[in-house]
Amino acid sequence: MSTGPTRTYFVKTYGCQMNVYDSERMGDALAGAGFGAADSPEDADLIILNTCHIREKAAQKVYSEIGRLAGIRRRRAEKGQKTLIGVAGCVAQAEGEEIIARAPAVDLVVGPQSFHRLPELVARAAGEPVVATDFPAEDKFNFLPAPSAKTIRARGVSAFVTVQEGCDKFCSFCVVPYTRGAESSRPVEKIVAEARRLVTAGVREITLLGQNVNAYHGQNAGGAPATLAELLGQLAQIDGLARLRYTTSHPRDMDDALIGAHRDIEQLMPYLHLPVQSGSDRVLKAMNRRHTRDFYLALIGRIRDARPDIALSGDFIVGFPGETDRDFAQTISLVSQIGYASAYSFKYSPRPGTPGAELAGQIDETLKADRLAELQAVIGKGRADFNRACHGQTLPVLFDRATKIAGKVSGRTPYNQTIIVTGGEDIRGEILPVALTMNGQNSLCGQIVVPQGARR
Ligand code: 5AD
Ligand code: SF4
Repeated sequence: MSTGPTRTYFVKTYGCQMNVYDSERMGDALAGAGFGAADSPEDADLIILNTCHIREKAAQKVYSEIGRLAGIRRRRAEKGQKTLIGVAGCVAQAEGEEIIARAPAVDLVVGPQSFHRLPELVARAAGEPVVATDFPAEDKFNFLPAPSAKTIRARGVSAFVTVQEGCDKFCSFCVVPYTRGAESSRPVEKIVAEARRLVTAGVREITLLGQNVNAYHGQNAGGAPATLAELLGQLAQIDGLARLRYTTSHPRDMDDALIGAHRDIEQLMPYLHLPVQSGSDRVLKAMNRRHTRDFYLALIGRIRDARPDIALSGDFIVGFPGETDRDFAQTISLVSQIGYASAYSFKYSPRPGTPGAELAGQIDETLKADRLAELQAVIGKGRADFNRACHGQTLPVLFDRATKIAGKVSGRTPYNQTIIVTGGEDIRGEILPVALTMNGQNSLCGQIVVPQGARR
């Protein structure tokens, strides 16, 4: 009988979906070195915070959490247990050694391009603090061990795969080009192999991830750069892979082939997250977005020609330096004009080292908060309208999650709406037709219309 792993780890994830994926891959790296997953930080010999640097609030959370972890370490030490504390992700990349200077409880700082070295770094960190934030020439993906089928199943039927990292766009508010580095894409072959492994273990839906995923240009089998449309076409050939999604995109990189993929690839879900950030040309220019409002509107028109029912999503920043009431009114009008199925909105947060932080005309926090509330009300209304248009329809729902309520299972429609239905755990992983009805003013609920167990 196996005695099980001798050391355990716990990764706490902040921020975007790529961090969720990276945390899983950190788990793979540690599993390869004999670590087992712990259920809580209290039970872990190694605790890693996988952090986000996108806005100030996200970055601040790290330091309060380190304080809490230092307490856990003291309590564990009283029981004779040793604990290592690591900081990974974008705060690690941006702040490096400063983290250890400010929070001496931290033993290890590891950037997003170096976590494949975790086993070796952890071993070193037992003796002295270690900082690994370089951008190594080697590709971390070539060094990460593949997860076992059991691990894949435990992670669920909907999986992420990073296909592209970094960004060369340099929007003036954004830290990503500094924390994640220059754009780079993984080869098609490697991605297809990873997807096949996931599908063989039971995954039904894959979301391709990249900070600028539609700038994807990984090598194809012939050694030439492939587009994201080509990659999606290859993945669509995998038997059993029912759904494909990708996020997040830049308007300038939506090429004709990708728009065509939304018409032609059945597995590609009718949902697109395409951030525009502002509806004002003046602000778009100051943000260095390199496109106008009209360019975005025309692009959305072409996408809707290809896939009329597509659900659109976006990101918006309010209170960028110099944003006037008139500029903000243009954002509101754009949101109403497009009719987003969902959208995320944020108060501008000046980030050290980005050009936006140096601009004159920084906006007062109260005004930002007022604008955010107004925008969120309009976004909420759009979401409710989109949901209402689905009332009475029957849509295929992929059941991907258990809920906290017994006898209730959670799934997602092609448009990425979450639907909770009455059903048993056994329908997880299945795609079943669900009749949708409005649940109150804003959200949807539904009922499965075929007997459980009938796979689509
Ligand atoms: N302040 C506020 N929001 C930001 N985002 C990126 N940087 C900032 C910032 N400095 C938002 C953008 C981006 C999303 C991931 O986060 O809307 O699309
Ligand atoms: Fe940041 Fe996206 Fe702009 Fe790149 S395209 S700089 S990731 S907001």
